[in-house]
Amino acid sequence: MSDTNNKQANLYNSDGSPREVGVIGHPIEHSLSPAIHNAAFAHYHLPHRYQKWDVAPSDLLRFLNEAWIGNYLGLNVTVPHKEAVLRYLDEWDDIVEAIGAANTLLVEADVLTGYNTDPAGFLEALQRDANYEPKGKRTLVLGAGGAARAVVLALASEGAVEIVVANRTFERAATLVNEIGPLFPNVHIFATPLDPAAWPSNRNPRTLVVNTTSLGLLEPDKPFPISPEALSGRDPDRHTIFFDLTYGDTPFLKMARPIAAHVLDGLTMLVAQGAQSFELWTGLTAPRDLMLAAARNALTARDNH
Ligand code: ATR
Repeated sequence: MSDTNNKQANLYNSDGSPREVGVIGHPIEHSLSPAIHNAAFAHYHLPHRYQKWDVAPSDLLRFLNEAWIGNYLGLNVTVPHKEAVLRYLDEWDDIVEAIGAANTLLVEADVLTGYNTDPAGFLEALQRDANYEPKGKRTLVLGAGGAARAVVLALASEGAVEIVVANRTFERAATLVNEIGPLFPNVHIFATPLDPAAWPSNRNPRTLVVNTTSLGLLEPDKPFPISPEALSGRDPDRHTIFFDLTYGDTPFLKMARPIAAHVLDGLTMLVAQGAQSFELWTGLTAPRDLMLAAARNALTARDNH
């Protein structure tokens, strides 16, 4: 049987009922994932209803045991469980190992496997929205949390020539670089404070600046505190793409727009990483355009609520 057929057999319980699938997090109320995945299941006329489960950290083990016994198809995992789930996995891939976090679980007969579709989702969004390939490029990543780890891993694995990792807490950036840097000896990965004066200068501008911090999230009306010229390393020719992993017209994107070659928010990445999860569970090609439209509709409905 091919892998795709195996996956499709895996979609149902022995009594023919659809296996459970959904996302766990805490809080989870505002997740757009049900809208995104249910559009994909509906597209294939599959009876599955992707759900969201609010699971407190103290309840994680109990929930995973239940998922196991209940023979779930798989789960997406979001804040605050992405790192904590690792200790309950039987298997995980090199990407999970390098990031130290999983966002997708696949439940098969007697094995719980963890994946992280964030790096692939990030690259897919860059390619789809901005036709950008990191190979040979100079880049800057703001932040050093889990999202930054996924972005740095993605850029390094695609052969970016330089990745500056700038973070408010320098030690966190240093830890990230010490852990991921040795996996990519040909990529210059630097840790710096969140201060442009500390960033390496070069004649060539950075072609990609990614904001993974929550800076701007809490105070959306406050201007982003670092200028786009400083972020790109002087860019009079609009060569730089500015990518904010948050959704919407964020302070970072508002500030960058006048000098940007392109601005991207996090919605396409959310859909792309979700599409990759859907493909892992079902073996079917995810209908990305439909999923993106569903995400936009859900976001509009959420904002109008
Ligand atoms: P995620 O898993 O989404 O990456 P996280 O691990 O909480 O989330 O990381 C949040 C990032 O936003 C960190 O890089 C954090 O900087 P610190 O490591 O110094 O905490 C950054 N961040 C949050 N609020 C910030 C602020 N007001 N100014 C600058 N950076 C901020």
